Amino acid sequence: MAEDFYHEPVLAAEIVGMLIRKPGIYLDGTLGGGGHASAMARTLYEMGYWEQSLIIGIDQDDEALRAAALKMAPWAVNTVLVKGNFGDLEGSFIRACSEKNMKPEAAGILLDLGVSSFQIDSASRGFSYLREGPLDMRMDRSAALTAADIVNTYEEKELARVFFRYGEEKRSRSIAKAVAEYRRRNGPITGTVQLAGIIRDVAYGGENVIKMLSRVFQALRIEVNDELEVLREALRQGIGCLGEHGRMAVVSYHSLEDRIVKNVFADNARNDWGPKGVGLREPLERASVSLVTRKPLLAGEDETARNPRARSAKLRVIEKIPKGGCREC
Ligand SMILES: C[S@@+](CC[C@H](N)C(=O)[O-])C[C@H]1O[C@@H](n2cnc3c(N)ncnc32)[C@H](O)[C@@H]1O
Repeated sequence: MAEDFYHEPVLAAEIVGMLIRKPGIYLDGTLGGGGHASAMARTLYEMGYWEQSLIIGIDQDDEALRAAALKMAPWAVNTVLVKGNFGDLEGSFIRACSEKNMKPEAAGILLDLGVSSFQIDSASRGFSYLREGPLDMRMDRSAALTAADIVNTYEEKELARVFFRYGEEKRSRSIAKAVAEYRRRNGPITGTVQLAGIIRDVAYGGENVIKMLSRVFQALRIEVNDELEVLREALRQGIGCLGEHGRMAVVSYHSLEDRIVKNVFADNARNDWGPKGVGLREPLERASVSLVTRKPLLAGEDETARNPRARSAKLRVIEKIPKGGCREC
C-alpha cells in the first residue's frame, strides 16, 4: 500500500540547499517514496517559487510512484510523475516539459541511487537475504530478467564474473561453483534464503558472512537491473538537460557507483586539449560543468545514528557552465 511506503531521505537538507536556488524545473530521477521530492516541493513553496516551478519525478516502481504522489500532494507545486527508467532521463524530461509548455532546461537534477528501504524490506521483491522471498530483484516488475533467471541459467563462469565484477567478491569462483553444484543436484534455486544458505556454506569458517551475502546480493541486483550502464547513460543525458548554472546531485551507496559518478563528473569538468604535444591555444572541447563538491559529501554523525542507510552515502554535485561562459560568471 502506498500509505505504508517508508524511506528516510538521505542528506536531504544538503541536497535541497545545493540544488534549489531559483524557480525552475527540477527533476528527481529516483523518486522513491518522494522524500527528497517533497522536500524540494516544500522549499520551492516556502521560497515563493512554486508558481514558476515544475517538479518532474521518475521511478520505475509503481508502488514508489503512488507513495510519492501522496507525499507531494500537500505542496502546491506543479508536478509530473513518470513511470520510467532514468536510462531514458532525457526522453522523460523533454516529454514532461512539453506537456507543461516549458523550455526543457533543468535548474536541478537529483539521482539518489539504489533501492528504497521499503523495497528492501518487502520480502516479495527478493532484495534481502534476511527475508524469505522469491529471487526477483527487479526494480521494474514488468522487466523480463529476474535474479532467479541468472542464478539458474548462467553458466558457472558467467556467475563468477557477475559476483566478481558487480560485488567485488574475492570468493566469486567458489560461490559460483557452489551455486552450479547445488542446482545440478537439487534443481532450481528459487528463494532468497535458499541462496543465502548456499553462500553461507561457502563462507563457513570465514570471517564475514554478512559482507559476502551483501556483495553477492548486490551483484545480482546490479546485473538484473543493468544498473551501472544505465547510470552512465543517465549522467550523460542529465548533464545535457541542465540549463545554465543548473546543478546535478548524485547520491551513491557503493564504490562501483561512486567511481562512475566521480569519473563522469571529472571528465566533464576538464577541458579537452587533445593529444599531448599538439600545443593547441584553445581546447578541442571546453569543460561543460564545474565541480561543486571536490570531495564527496558524507552524512554527519547525527544522521547516521538516526538512519543507518546514510552511513554509506556519498553525495557529489556539479554545476553546468554556460556556453561560451566561464566557471565563475
Ligand atoms: C534510494 S530510492 C530513492 C528514495 C527517494 N530519494 C526518497 O527520498 O524517497 C531509489 C529509487 O530509485 C528507483 N530506481 C532505481 N533505479 C532506477 C532507474 N534506473 N530508473 C528509475 N528509477 C530507478 C528505485 O525504484 C527506488 O524507488
